Amino acid sequence: MSDKEPDKESHKESDKQSRREPLRQADPQAPAASQTTDIHIAIAGLGTVAQGVLDIIRDNSDLLAQRAGVRLCVKRIASRSAKDVDLLGAEFTTDLNDLVSDPGVDIVVELIGGEGPAHDLIAAALAAGKNVVTANKAVIAAHGNALLAQGQAHRLAFEAAVAGAIPIIQSIQDGLVANRFEHVVGIINGTCNYILTAMQKDGVAFADALATAQQLGFAEADPTFDIEGIDAGHKLSILLALAFDQGFDFAALPVEGITGVSAEDIQYADELGYKIKHLGIARRSDKGVEARVQPTLVPKSSLLASVDGVLNAVQVRSDQAGDTLFSGPGAGGAATASAVVADIVRLAQQGTVQPAEFSRPAQANLLPLDQVVSAHYLRIPTQDEAGVFAAVTQALSKHQISIDAVIQKEPAGDEASIVMITQPAVESEMVAAVQEVESLAQVHGQVARIRVENI
Ligand code: HSE
Repeated sequence: MSDKEPDKESHKESDKQSRREPLRQADPQAPAASQTTDIHIAIAGLGTVAQGVLDIIRDNSDLLAQRAGVRLCVKRIASRSAKDVDLLGAEFTTDLNDLVSDPGVDIVVELIGGEGPAHDLIAAALAAGKNVVTANKAVIAAHGNALLAQGQAHRLAFEAAVAGAIPIIQSIQDGLVANRFEHVVGIINGTCNYILTAMQKDGVAFADALATAQQLGFAEADPTFDIEGIDAGHKLSILLALAFDQGFDFAALPVEGITGVSAEDIQYADELGYKIKHLGIARRSDKGVEARVQPTLVPKSSLLASVDGVLNAVQVRSDQAGDTLFSGPGAGGAATASAVVADIVRLAQQGTVQPAEFSRPAQANLLPLDQVVSAHYLRIPTQDEAGVFAAVTQALSKHQISIDAVIQKEPAGDEASIVMITQPAVESEMVAAVQEVESLAQVHGQVARIRVENI
């Protein structure tokens, strides 16, 4: 040891007093077993994610002990009915109250999904002073403000609620905390991405692709939550609140699913150089913060266009770090369980996962959708006769809508579609222009309208 070593040591000692006491003192020579702390967890639910958590604890217990200094012991598991699953010695119960009332439980892990009982369990566990980990996006999106209030924010972790295995919440709250966020844009529903990819790459029908996503365990128990955009809306509400310091306010978000996206639109988008992706978009502009969930044309050359199947990806633009892209499996038991266990470990290590004092506003303060500016894809079903194109462009120009690219195919019988990409326009003008186009005598039926993002 050099002469300078004692100084270093005394400096370390004084530092230590101002820091949170770690679970264990670093001693690389000591055997791993003597460095670990047993953490007793109780799991609510026995679905695919819960089983994934049990698998990780069974298979990677030593790795977690060595790497993180914690040994996870599953003390209780609650579910509506028992299943033929290795419970790792945990006591089984059908009563959720048993998890909260057990003084030996350090962390309650809520994996039952849905809003009612899940919310009540989380609230009760927090009130009882327990740490809580949840994968429940619906509960956080709807009740996040109340659950994170009252100084209990640092005891509630929900990384698995958004984008499965991707540590996007930790990245926003921790890795990128020094930044002001400009946009957070992502493919955040694996089922929608799976369906759109199957339709686009293999010509699979919407209903068949959805059935496969259900069989593979990606879809929600009620798959309308996926295809109507509600699941992505829940996730975007969470990202919006965290990245743009807004309230958790699902009700404020404009949400559109993929049920209106046709094989025809996917084909035309391809010809125009785009793919259709279901995106959650949160962005800061000069006019305010805008956020929505919607099917979107993205250029084939964009990073998000290459994210296919059940994969999720979130592109974050921030003032200091610039563009960062996070991609990985966004659904499925093992992938989601990976994020759940990460939260358990972080809470077990007594690292805070949220600020202890919660100062977010109760609501999201968003730019109204009719003031948002976007380019659009329009597919206009028309009669095949002279002058139709001129009539359509005249109606659009009355509302200052300019055209960027257009396709007009050989007519099928008397019908012909005019397909175009417009220049960016204010939403209210676009809505008025589309109404005017639909009112033309030569236009038959509804105009298909999908926003375009050149991300
Ligand atoms: N149903 C969800 C999805 C599961 O498809 O993304 C993960 O939240």
